[in-house]
Amino acid sequence: MTSQGDSVPPYAVSEQLVVKGEELYKRRCGGCHSLDNNRIGPRHRDVYGRKAGTVADYKYSKALRNLDVIWTDQTLDEWLVNPTAFAKGTSMGFRLKKADERHAIIEYLKFLSSASSANAQ
Ligand code: HEC
Repeated sequence: MTSQGDSVPPYAVSEQLVVKGEELYKRRCGGCHSLDNNRIGPRHRDVYGRKAGTVADYKYSKALRNLDVIWTDQTLDEWLVNPTAFAKGTSMGFRLKKADERHAIIEYLKFLSSASSANAQ
């Protein structure tokens, strides 16, 4: 294993929040994103724990390509509050104002990450 892999702990997730997050994800993000296909926005499976702007076959804005950030609870939360403030020049023009909705959706994305303890062997 690489040292990078070693530094990623299995993420603990709350099942209840994941269920709520899945519903909210479809409603709030599904217009532009899906888990396994690039649409208006890049596909999302495994986005949690990954470096921003790295889905190889998606055409990101320069802002996202140059963003040196790993998607975690904190960075995803800040991003969803206001993408433009987080990465000036991004093409994601959508804000999620409600903290509880952000929290549930982030938990869902975490659950879908291969580093999630729910998916780990
Ligand atoms: C109106 C369309 C739209 C909606 C709605 C939207 N997004 Fe996006 N999203 C985009 C676009 C476009 C990008 C690419 C941004 C860029 O390249 O600057 C993006 C990028 C992202 C990224 C960066 C992914 C990466 O590979 O680095 C994350 C994370 C993200 N969106 C999460 C969400 C979540 C979570 C929601 C729902 C709460 C959401 N988005 C709703 C259009 C949208």
